[in-house]
Amino acid sequence: MTVPTLKFYDLPTPEIDVSAEVLAGLKQSNKQIAPKYFYDETGSALFTEITRQPEYYPARTEIGLLKNLNRDLVDTIGTGVALIEYGSGSSEKIRVLLESLRPSLYAPIDISRDYLAQSVERLTQDYDWLNVKATCIDYSQEFDLPFDASGRRVGFFPGSSIGNFDPDQAVRFLRQVRRHVGVDGSLLIGVDLKKDHAVLNSAYNDRAGVTERFNLNILTHLNAEMTGNFELENFRHEAGYNIDKGCIEMFLVSETAQEVMLGGAVISLEAGEKIHTENSFKYSSDEFTQMASDAGFAKHRFWTDDQQWFGLFYLYS
Ligand code: AVI
Repeated sequence: MTVPTLKFYDLPTPEIDVSAEVLAGLKQSNKQIAPKYFYDETGSALFTEITRQPEYYPARTEIGLLKNLNRDLVDTIGTGVALIEYGSGSSEKIRVLLESLRPSLYAPIDISRDYLAQSVERLTQDYDWLNVKATCIDYSQEFDLPFDASGRRVGFFPGSSIGNFDPDQAVRFLRQVRRHVGVDGSLLIGVDLKKDHAVLNSAYNDRAGVTERFNLNILTHLNAEMTGNFELENFRHEAGYNIDKGCIEMFLVSETAQEVMLGGAVISLEAGEKIHTENSFKYSSDEFTQMASDAGFAKHRFWTDDQQWFGLFYLYS
């Protein structure tokens, strides 16, 4: 009989690093804020709302794939494994697989402590057989898993969050996952594929303005985290596909010349100056499997939807 457990490992990023990192990004000539700062509690909830917008096809396409392929995925992955989810957010997608995979352990990892705590609380109520070891950490940094996991380890990284890393960071991240899961481990990963630019552009400019609110919320988050006075009405959302880089680029554009106080520093912005907040890289299946192989995952299985908009890859060695 499985005895359900819930353990919470809190490994936060030291605040001093947050301040230094954000200010360094805002003092550059090409100003930037790392996309991980989107995900305070409000940002995580707004992202969940984005995934429900009609224009934002990645989430529903991926869920459709996970549901349709359920049998195939169970045959490929096997049951009773230790399932480690990177950037688990609301832990919604894993629900599609939990009953059929019956993992011996579910180990969600997320930067947003409160959101993670609420998600695992709900999960353990809904699946009373499930063992959960939740870790609060910025998974984009180098870290060791703070728990033991017996049995074969399988990483789960849905949502095409890999696209929010630059390609070289993405390979570093895949290498880290390979280290976490070991030589006999594997990774199930969702990747947004290259496609018609109009489809991409509207996915990041939804008519309801949720992506706009998500983008602007990064400033609210920094105001709270670092004692700042960004005024949101002085910025506008901009997102568009950059063909040369192969990614959607997202910016906050300063509407006026302004000075903002943040963490004891003064940030000066000219009218029209942009703060880069996110890249979302899109890959062909060949480009992605090359990156996976550079990271040590030499073998793969690949599934896609009818329109070939989204890819699910199962990577192993
Ligand atoms: C989390 N990540 C995969 C999303 C993306 O599509 O790059 C974040 C996002 N940014 C704007 N809309 C969604």
